[in-house]
Amino acid sequence: MPKITYIEHNGKSHKLDVENGLTVMEGAVQNNIPGIDADCGGGCACATCHVYVEKKWFNKLQKKESSEEDMLDVAFEPNSFSRLSCQITISDELDGLVVKMPSKQA
Ligand code: FES
Repeated sequence: MPKITYIEHNGKSHKLDVENGLTVMEGAVQNNIPGIDADCGGGCACATCHVYVEKKWFNKLQKKESSEEDMLDVAFEPNSFSRLSCQITISDELDGLVVKMPSKQA
């Protein structure tokens, strides 16, 4: 199973095994990781699953749909490595992925 590291804004790190086919958001929610609320349940409509993807992983992710781009425009302090974690599906290629949560999601 791919290992995904979630880093809270305060620096606390959680390394989890997340099943292929789940999203990065689902991996966090199922394991009660703080900082990913996922208020809309993965519908790309809330941005409470916003994460900063570690630079070396960013270009390995699936491309953003326009709906994700639109939501990131209204997310808290987006940067060039921002993604919605509900739009990132886990696969073996993402083994080792590291994401950080924004300060607002604490
Ligand atoms: S869970 Fe709402 S946008 Fe990702």
